[in-house]
Amino acid sequence: MPFTFSKVNAVIRAVRLSRQREVAAARMAALEESNNLLQTQARQLEHQTKEARELAHELALTNEELRSAMSEARKAWQAADAANRSKAEFLAVMSHELRTPLNSIGGYVDLLEMELRGPLTDSQKSDLQRIKRGQQHLLRLINDILNFTRLEATEVKYEIIDVPLRALLTDLDAVVSSLATAKELDYDCDVPPGGVFTRTDPDKLRQILINLLSNAVKFTPAGGRIKVSCAAQEKTVSISVEDNGPGIPADKLEVVFEPFVQLDRGLTRTTEGTGLGLAISRGLARGMGAEITLKSEVGKGSVFTLVLPLVRTRATPSGGVRAIHSG
Ligand SMILES: Nc1ncnc2c1ncn2[C@@H]1O[C@H](COP(=O)(O)OP(=O)(O)OP(=O)(O)O)[C@@H](O)[C@H]1O
Ligand SMILES: [Mg+2]
Repeated sequence: MPFTFSKVNAVIRAVRLSRQREVAAARMAALEESNNLLQTQARQLEHQTKEARELAHELALTNEELRSAMSEARKAWQAADAANRSKAEFLAVMSHELRTPLNSIGGYVDLLEMELRGPLTDSQKSDLQRIKRGQQHLLRLINDILNFTRLEATEVKYEIIDVPLRALLTDLDAVVSSLATAKELDYDCDVPPGGVFTRTDPDKLRQILINLLSNAVKFTPAGGRIKVSCAAQEKTVSISVEDNGPGIPADKLEVVFEPFVQLDRGLTRTTEGTGLGLAISRGLARGMGAEITLKSEVGKGSVFTLVLPLVRTRATPSGGVRAIHSG
């Protein structure tokens, strides 16, 4: 049977229609797939939102706990600070009150020694000397306690200036040499060249060095050696006080800087002191931006090193010296 034109058209339309249906079906399938994907993602998102909400709740609780722990800690710190202040005030008042009668004891001893109240026998003179030694010992102890409480209460005032190290160490040399000679110790001070300046409070620096040096003299047995040396680094200058005395055990290197700590507190103790020298020295050093470190070996000796800010100097054309701050 021959094909008519209208029949051919009908076949073509049918083929086109069937293609369009196929394309539509494929699009539907793709849409359904992305719909499923979206639904899965929505479920995941919902789950994550729930988890985030729970986490936020937990965080809020932890935050609350942290806040209350912080407030507790602040209260505890305030209580400790108040207790510390009362202790410092008590020590300061007590030391101050004790100083007045002690000074007057010293005054009366001087009066008697001068025999202004009448002549003294030899045994009375030697008794008076014992009283005087006791009075001076107590006065030193009380002054140390007073100095320490002032340090703790941060009442110490520092007068920071450029200090020439050569002059300061030469001054000290005279004091320490006589102490060392009296104890048959070999004392050597490696004085730095002129023109090395440090920025510090000279009185406090002298006090620290005297504390370190008197410890070295006190604890080093006769026949020993004490050496002071200086070394300049880029921004600091170190002054070391070295001895070949008994040394300090490794587990006590920090403890000796605590107030009232003395390694030999037994009845056989041969040295005097309160155990405040190093605590005061470290406090003073830190108060003026310096630091004291300690290296020691039992049986070999100790090295206390004071590290200070360095101010270099150079000669000016007129021949004087001009400070150049390295920091
Ligand atoms: N150069 C040293 N060699 C060995 N031990 C030392 C030396 N310097 C300090 N110590 C130890 O550290 C302790 C604390 O020293 P610190 O200067 O604070 O007190 P102190 O000398 O006993 O008394 P104070 O200085 O109050 O007169 C000393 O008692 C001593 O045991
Ligand atoms: Mg001391």
